Amino acid sequence: MNFHLTNTLHQIFSDAAAGLAEFGDEFNPDIRTADPRFGDFQANGVLPFAKKQKTNPRALAGKLVDALPKSDLAEKGVTLEIAGPGFINIRLGPEFLLQWLSTYQSKEDLSQGASALYRGRKMVVDFSSPNTAKQMHVGHIRSMVIGESIARLLDFCGAEVIRDNHLGDWGTPMGKVLLGYRRFLDREALEKDALEELERLYKKVNALGEEDPKILDEARAELVRLQNKEPDSYKLWQEIIAINEKALERIYQLLDIRFDHHLGESFYEDKLEPVYRELSELKISEESQGAQVVFHPEHPRFKSQPFIIRKSDGASNYATTDLATALYRVEEWKADGLVYVTDGRQQDHFQQLFLTVEKWFSKTSRPIPKMSHVWFGTILGEDGKAIKTRSGDPIRLKDLLREAEERALRIVREKNPDLPMEESQKIAQTVGIAAIKYADLSQNRTSDYVFAWDKLLSFDGNTAPYLLYAVARIHSIFSKADISPYDDGDTVGEASPFETPQELALARKLTAFSPVLAQTTNDLRPHYLCTYLFELATEFSAFYNADKVLTADPKVRSRRILLCRRTLLFMETGLHLLGVQTLKKM
Ligand code: ARG
Repeated sequence: MNFHLTNTLHQIFSDAAAGLAEFGDEFNPDIRTADPRFGDFQANGVLPFAKKQKTNPRALAGKLVDALPKSDLAEKGVTLEIAGPGFINIRLGPEFLLQWLSTYQSKEDLSQGASALYRGRKMVVDFSSPNTAKQMHVGHIRSMVIGESIARLLDFCGAEVIRDNHLGDWGTPMGKVLLGYRRFLDREALEKDALEELERLYKKVNALGEEDPKILDEARAELVRLQNKEPDSYKLWQEIIAINEKALERIYQLLDIRFDHHLGESFYEDKLEPVYRELSELKISEESQGAQVVFHPEHPRFKSQPFIIRKSDGASNYATTDLATALYRVEEWKADGLVYVTDGRQQDHFQQLFLTVEKWFSKTSRPIPKMSHVWFGTILGEDGKAIKTRSGDPIRLKDLLREAEERALRIVREKNPDLPMEESQKIAQTVGIAAIKYADLSQNRTSDYVFAWDKLLSFDGNTAPYLLYAVARIHSIFSKADISPYDDGDTVGEASPFETPQELALARKLTAFSPVLAQTTNDLRPHYLCTYLFELATEFSAFYNADKVLTADPKVRSRRILLCRRTLLFMETGLHLLGVQTLKKM
């Protein structure tokens, strides 16, 4: 049995067609998931094929259906129906469903099956990547949470994933911090809360710069000194970097996020020369007002708005380091896919970067990687504007996470007052963080969304508490019966095919896991998986309310236990792929 049922069906249909004179091996059956009212899958390929051959599509569809092997389909209860002008609706039968579900007993089995999607690919996921000397704020959460999930998903689906934190430690913001440090440092404040003080310095220079552009010139001069590695600047910079690193690490730990590398912009400081040289020699860049720039004449906007790769004062910028970074990832890591997770305001930058890399690499013998900008919208407050504290400052991430935990604790205590405090606290920590992450992931990433505590902590609807509770509830079924929630050993072979409408609906929903995974990793949009998990949990509830499990007759009990086990496995696996920790008890 193939994990990707679309692939299995594709194979069966293609093989049957290849044996028919009317089709031959050119034919693509085009298997897709279908509207559940009509079937589980649909073969859409006959219609366009018949058009090309100028034959009657319904008749052609009939020939194909007759030629399909009974042993693979009809005998397993798969029904086929020709609909409309020549679509073939495919409904999986109870035996087929049972057989498919029996095959996947563990997360490893699922990953093994899913690995066909990205096998042999080497993908860099560039995420979080904050600028030094800024506290992490609410806005930073999206890149971390979405990036972590994408890294897990790609890894699960067979890719070799390299997680890279491309810290902004060598650009304009750094010049401002250095200037602030020299001019306005409050030693005492630095000792008390270093990151707080660094952020104050950065903001101060920014504010002064708005009134007096000379300040910005000075900050730029600081940056040039740093980029020339003048000893006093460089030493200061190292100090600042170290402070920053410590603060970041705490947040990453709390959010259960990890990286393989933290190669910030500074890492590429000695790798920029080839960028300037090659782009100029290959005539991809040109000089414009003293700067080195790349125009993209074929693009409506970038034909007049150039990609500046070297500023007129000689300093490198965000574009330069990103070009060097792309080169490094392809040459040193042999990456064939580069994924960048940042907010939507950077769309122009990445479009220009991708166009430039494509032109550059295609004039050399380097392979062109597949580059994706996974961008996201803004988190809004309940007033519909970018989320802020009452005083107008951005909300600190660490404060937000603390508040999430506190609120979750109140809810957990209320729901289950008999639980020992220590246990409640542990549960609240998991629920609080899960709620924040899930609220973000469950939205289409390219939309803005409103951050609302009541909604994201609610036990109703498409939320983390609802899903975590569903998982804990299935665990409780197994602990009550004192049987393993994962190992089929005790029941396998005894299960009879599904019969009740609720069993069938749940089994069908479970088989939709593989196409959802394919769609999620194809579009790099975790919210598809969220929607699926929510629907799966809802389907499970309907089943569990309608059909008794533990007290049913042995063969019925076995197949229902199988459904419980697989729901648990798919839910836990899916939530893990979102970076959300689950609980056995709640
Ligand atoms: N440091 C940038 C920022 O804070 C994000 C970097 C994203 N990665 C990259 N390779 N450009 O906006």
